[in-house]
Amino acid sequence: MDFFQVEPAYISKEGCRLIWKGNDEDDQDVIVLSKEELESLVELLSKESTGKVELEDEFSTIWVNTDTTQFRLKEHKMLEVKTQLLRKEILEYKKIPQEQKPIKIYPKEYFPSITIEDEDRTENNKTLDSILGNKDKTVTPESDFFRVIAIRRSTRNFDTTRLVEQWKIDKILAAADTAPTAGNFQGFEVFYVRNKEVKKRLVEAANNQPYVNAPVVLVFCKDPSRVKMNFRPEILAKFSLQDATLAAAYSQIAASALGLSSIWIGMIDEEKVRRIIDTNLIPSSILCIGYPHRNRPPKSRRKLKDLIHVIE
Ligand SMILES: Cc1cc2nc3c(=O)[nH]c(=O)nc-3n(C[C@H](O)[C@H](O)[C@H](O)COP(=O)(O)O)c2cc1C
Repeated sequence: MDFFQVEPAYISKEGCRLIWKGNDEDDQDVIVLSKEELESLVELLSKESTGKVELEDEFSTIWVNTDTTQFRLKEHKMLEVKTQLLRKEILEYKKIPQEQKPIKIYPKEYFPSITIEDEDRTENNKTLDSILGNKDKTVTPESDFFRVIAIRRSTRNFDTTRLVEQWKIDKILAAADTAPTAGNFQGFEVFYVRNKEVKKRLVEAANNQPYVNAPVVLVFCKDPSRVKMNFRPEILAKFSLQDATLAAAYSQIAASALGLSSIWIGMIDEEKVRRIIDTNLIPSSILCIGYPHRNRPPKSRRKLKDLIHVIE
């Protein structure tokens, strides 16, 4: 990976994107700097001094040394550039007024952290079974089903300093795949949003609910075209909404069973969300997951006798 260039950010005129490119056309790495982060970097570089710039997520840093500048990012391999080159590019970039540059984000294929050797392609359940059965090195929290649902509580206040382990994310995604669906046609798709900028844009598409920018963000979409049943389109649309909703509920419960918390986001501008994640499918909900700042007791419900109507 070689440092390539500085480009304008795509959601704000103030920050920038630093681009590294590999051999392949698609092989590129991008670091997005906010206005403040860019200003701190410019200050160090223009003074020809060395030092550290802390990035927004509290884990990532830029180390400016005399020879080389290192970008140490959370969940990311370290990127480097010659300080002299960075200085030239950044200071030149700052001189000219920049326009926002829209980018297109293409969803990629998902590879779970567990790989199954010699997997027969027809035996999809093998991967699913091993992900669901995986206990990993760390102790799995109490996961008795009834206890999990009894103590589940949504959170809008995530501990963003705690990373969600990849094996837990695998399990949450695999849980979605175990949900029942109409005719087993699986009329839904899940978009697992890792891109920081996309998460920020989803906040705006979700009525500016800031917690949508969570450690793990999953967008559940309806896909009625998968439901190959001979019913009216309204029925297929209803089935795919139910499929996507159930899948999200399975993931939400799986997250709780893994000691995480979540918030279900239904208040979304479907059109905006689909444009942001680059799909033709209609989103049904966003599930935001992470470690909660505080474990709180579950909310109360109405009495069961008021909920249940017995018909004899
Ligand atoms: C269909 C649906 C839509 C929801 N939409 C939102 C939302 O847009 N924003 C939000 O903060 N919470 C949303 N929630 C979360 C609920 O407010 C929360 O689940 C409810 O208060 C019960 O709390 P509990 O999950 O801790 O039991 C939604 C939940 C559901 C099931």
